[in-house]
Amino acid sequence: ANVTFVTHDGEKHEAPLTEGTSLMQIAVDNNIPGIDGDCGGEAACGTCHVVVDEAWSDVVGTNDEVEEDMLAMNPEREPTSRLSCQMTARESWDGLTVRVPEFQI
Ligand code: FES
Repeated sequence: ANVTFVTHDGEKHEAPLTEGTSLMQIAVDNNIPGIDGDCGGEAACGTCHVVVDEAWSDVVGTNDEVEEDMLAMNPEREPTSRLSCQMTARESWDGLTVRVPEFQI
């Protein structure tokens, strides 16, 4: 199973989806530009912000309250924004596409 990260320059970066690993960790492990994961997955830094492709937002679910607090401060926040560290990958997400915003706070 694979996930595609689309960076703001329009470039597509595919990475293998590892069940049970956070999307942030997958991005970091695969050197996806723009996803830093500075806080190590504590929903406290916002550097792992991604915008989920609308076709997938029901499948991966919405953000919870902790995420909401962090995302609310982000000027690039969109309706399907998520913190990728709070998204635990599933095999069934094969083909998932997320966008990486231009600026990460
Ligand atoms: Fe810091 Fe996700 S890694 S909020």
